[in-house]
Amino acid sequence: MALPNKVQIIEVGPRDGLQNESQILPVPLRVELIERLAKTGLKKIEAGSFVSPKWVPQMANTDQVLDALNASSVKTETGAQYAVLTPNLKGLEGAVQHKADEIAIFGAASESFTQKNINCSIKESLHRFEDIAASAQQLNLPMRGYVSTIIGCPYEGDIDPQVVADVAKTLYQMGCFEISLGDTIGVGTPIKFKRMLDAVLKEVPADKLAVHCHNTYGQALANIYASLEYGINKVDSAVAGLGGCPYAKGASGNIATEDVLFMLNGMNIETGVDLDEVVNIGNWICSELNRENQSKVGLARA
Ligand code: HMG
Ligand code: MG
Repeated sequence: MALPNKVQIIEVGPRDGLQNESQILPVPLRVELIERLAKTGLKKIEAGSFVSPKWVPQMANTDQVLDALNASSVKTETGAQYAVLTPNLKGLEGAVQHKADEIAIFGAASESFTQKNINCSIKESLHRFEDIAASAQQLNLPMRGYVSTIIGCPYEGDIDPQVVADVAKTLYQMGCFEISLGDTIGVGTPIKFKRMLDAVLKEVPADKLAVHCHNTYGQALANIYASLEYGINKVDSAVAGLGGCPYAKGASGNIATEDVLFMLNGMNIETGVDLDEVVNIGNWICSELNRENQSKVGLARA
């Protein structure tokens, strides 16, 4: 299949990135990060999570982050949309009260990971999500769906592509406008991605899919390229390659937004995002977090 002319980048650094940092960033810095990213042309940014602060203390005060973002002129100036993760109805309540533009429910194709991440079975998680979906539909609130561990699970090993397809289909039928396929621990390779996509594409059309690649084994760009060849034109990434999942041992950061942009720019695929500005933000946030930049492009241009 021909490669797409345009790709939408979903910036997940302020959520997926910061949720796994040992340092908890204060609210004003989280807001500054998100707004600087919005000004680069990134239109969809995950701003935080309404999850238990006991489970993920880094995402506490997402309510304050959203309030600050919504009160600022940057939102209207840039047209950026701010999304949050909502694992249950309590999370949805927070998202609605603090006016998130979009919510995301997050399931997985592995029983053990689901248990470790959200403390229930796959079946129970889908049941919870049905309640969220019904309310979101009534409220006209766009809902994204994640399927984690699409290739491998830190506790169960290889994952059957058919299970990924089944969970993706259920979330899609529940009303998710898009399903993000998460290679949570970055063990995918292009061939494994293609096998997984062969199964998923029978249930969900390519234009309703995104890929979310952690770069643990350095395979993310190759896997994204393989996905583009399958007609997928939405890619999740995190500035400076921040990220990981606290409930997936060995999950390192997401592929860096800078690196995805460099690859797409080099193929004349339009994103509407200013690479140089993202590089500056990546270097700045790494100095704030006192951590190394995981973006090859960020390092090359430092
Ligand atoms: P639980 O302990 O089973 O929940 O956790 P519970 O209903 O029994 O509640 C326990 C406590 O949590 C109670 O407080 C609740 O009020 C509170 P207490 O009475 O003990 O003081 N609570 C909440 N607080 C705030 N917001 C909420 C909320 N819900 C309950 N929404 C729960 C279940 C889902 C809450 C928990 O397991 C949790 O928060 N997990 C966090 C999971 C998470 O954020 N993981 C990382 C994101 S997923 C990811 O990174 C993968 C992804 O990037 C894709 C990929 O890479 O593959 C998306
Ligand atoms: Mg992730």
